[in-house]
Amino acid sequence: MLRCLIAVLAITGCSTDPERPPPLGPLPEPAAAETTRFRDDGACAQCHLVPDGASPLHDAAGHNVSPVLLWRSSMMALAARDPYYLAVFAEERARDPGHVQEIDTLCSRCHAPAGSEERAETGQHLSFDDMTSGADPAAVLGRGGVTCTVCHQIAPGNLGEERSFSGGFQIGYQRQLFGRYLNPVSEPMKLIVNFTPTSGAQIAESSLCGTCHTVIVPGPKGEVVEQATYLEWRSSKYPALGRTCQACHVPTTDETGAPITVLAISGTPANLGARTPFGRHTFVGGNSYMLRLLADAPTWAGTGVSTDELLASAMRDEAHLGEAARVELTAHDARQFSLRVTNLTGHKLPTGYPSRRVWLHVRLEVGGAVVFESGGVDARGAIVDRGGKVLPAQPHRDTIASDAEVQIWEAKLIDVDGAVTHRALDARRYGKDDRLLPAGFAPTGSDRTRTEPSGPELDATFLPGSDQLAFEPPGGIPAGARLHVELLYEALAPEIVDAIEEAATSAGSRFVDLARARPVTPVVMTTLEMDL
Ligand code: HEC
Ligand code: HEC
Ligand code: HEC
Ligand code: HEC
Ligand code: HEC
Repeated sequence: MLRCLIAVLAITGCSTDPERPPPLGPLPEPAAAETTRFRDDGACAQCHLVPDGASPLHDAAGHNVSPVLLWRSSMMALAARDPYYLAVFAEERARDPGHVQEIDTLCSRCHAPAGSEERAETGQHLSFDDMTSGADPAAVLGRGGVTCTVCHQIAPGNLGEERSFSGGFQIGYQRQLFGRYLNPVSEPMKLIVNFTPTSGAQIAESSLCGTCHTVIVPGPKGEVVEQATYLEWRSSKYPALGRTCQACHVPTTDETGAPITVLAISGTPANLGARTPFGRHTFVGGNSYMLRLLADAPTWAGTGVSTDELLASAMRDEAHLGEAARVELTAHDARQFSLRVTNLTGHKLPTGYPSRRVWLHVRLEVGGAVVFESGGVDARGAIVDRGGKVLPAQPHRDTIASDAEVQIWEAKLIDVDGAVTHRALDARRYGKDDRLLPAGFAPTGSDRTRTEPSGPELDATFLPGSDQLAFEPPGGIPAGARLHVELLYEALAPEIVDAIEEAATSAGSRFVDLARARPVTPVVMTTLEMDL
């Protein structure tokens, strides 16, 4: 009750609760910055961003494919301005004040990689305050997120090895920017930004992404594998098929699936040749919710990107979620029906940050009246029973036999006492991880222990690539019943917003204000409708 009251006050901006710190103030806007190794993306925009409709960076349908344009509204570009990230970062610091330096070092490594590298060079670290208000080049570059000069300078040396994980990428001092083309025309870039475009095959390899998309953190009882997207991918059938992270997330095809050829990859000089393959820097994922929150708060977030661009990026994510899975009816009789969900991504579904969840919302209707339902949501985005009551944590299920049962494919961390926690630094291990496996999933060695599911051990239909679920409505399946199925995705559950509020940090207050003003709503990934 008290919390609801606080939430109402917070939205109207008149909170007087002494325990609720004022929301974190506005983040500085992007600015020019240069160090011995890095440069802000604005410098690259001089040549790798052209206006809509202008030559040469367009696909056959006339869509602008300028790397700077597409990248700057992606969550990778916004990784350091992400209000959810800043809130959990602040919470980790508040819960363990004796280790703020270590936490600063850890949490800035992948979200603010250029700033982190620059500080590390002088034996220092990028602090939370640097990230939210610092004005020196390392802080400015840090707020640029996973920026151009980070990815394009990662050296091939340790890629794919253990020491490359958890932000172990290596960046040299030669000011070479790697790309996949042989013999790039190098003078213009050398002259204007003092970087040499250099052929480097690693840019197109999954192991480059694996440096940050393998997140192993120190928990109170040893290593905690917070994210293992790269390990999931390399344990699947996709490496053998040559389907890299880039193939799906930096696609070299346009929206119709046709390979892209651009007239040139740079707006200047005018005499460059056409180039193919050409990767669209969309970095689409699933987190459209955070892009919408950022679009809601232009003054605070200071992204320097228009609301239209952020919303277009959110819509790309939502369309991408539609390509992530397939749902089919596999059997039905008078008593029950079965659905199979197939994972079409190159990793677990969902993958990445452990607050993601995917579940089936199933309704049976007779003459328009609902006779059975599982997986409905309320206005806050919480999963509820038919009476609207928020459901308790759900175990992995193979059969759904009541309105109060739902199968949620998710990863839940537990702390040393076995209680669910959303903070990686508080966690001991996953208490439940029944996320859908990628096709051909067969991990070996340490990848096995680091990606092992937890929960579906006894479920014979939980297989690499898919999971099948039986529904046994208490009253059987009435004649003339129509089945409505939605596969839903949420970037986070509303309970996490509540937990962040309890931690009472100013970054938390900012996030909670934003999240209460736009409660999380599930994205419909795919649907199925038929008469049974
Ligand atoms: C090794 C790299 C790495 C480190 C270190 C790291 N993160 Fe992340 N973090 C990621 C990646 C990659 C994602 C995105 C995954 C996804 O979208 O599913 C992410 C996502 C998140 C998200 C979810 C953001 C959203 O909008 O949904 C939060 C919150 C977060 N990180 C907090 C932290 C905190 C707090 C720390 C320090 C304890 C930290 N991260 C350290 C790589 C890292
Ligand atoms: C003055 C214009 C200009 C600026 C500024 C510029 N580039 Fe380039 N860039 C070029 C040209 C020209 C090429 C080569 C085109 C070709 O050979 O087809 C190129 C090529 C590249 C390549 C491909 C290399 C390869 O071998 O595949 C990458 C990657 C790249 N640039 C990244 C950047 C980044 C990151 C920045 C900002 C730090 C930047 N560029 C700034 C003009 C520029
Ligand atoms: C330097 C670290 C780093 C590298 C290298 C990196 N990422 Fe990321 N990536 C991140 C972080 C941090 C986030 C999370 C941003 C957030 O949500 O706050 C992220 C998020 C993402 C997302 C999620 C977007 C969404 O909307 O949910 C995708 C997709 C992604 N990265 C793909 C890639 C691919 C593909 C590569 C390799 C070409 C790659 N990343 C390389 C750090 C990195
Ligand atoms: C076969 C295509 C495919 C391949 C290969 C692939 N992905 Fe994905 N990825 C997807 C789809 C589709 C989604 C959207 C579903 C989702 O968000 O889970 C996605 C989602 C993501 C997300 C966002 C997860 C979330 O919900 O926050 C990240 C991060 C990501 N991928 C990183 C990677 C990395 C890193 C690799 C390589 C190691 C990779 N992907 C390989 C298709 C692919
Ligand atoms: C997460 C890593 C990542 C980031 C960040 C990134 N790129 Fe790239 N970039 C790639 C990958 C992967 C390719 C290769 C795509 C392909 O051709 O398959 C690429 C290719 C390119 C190319 C050559 C065209 C091509 O498709 O090969 C240029 C130019 C380029 N990037 C510029 C930029 C600029 C400018 C930025 C910042 C706005 C940027 N990149 C940010 C990963 C990244």
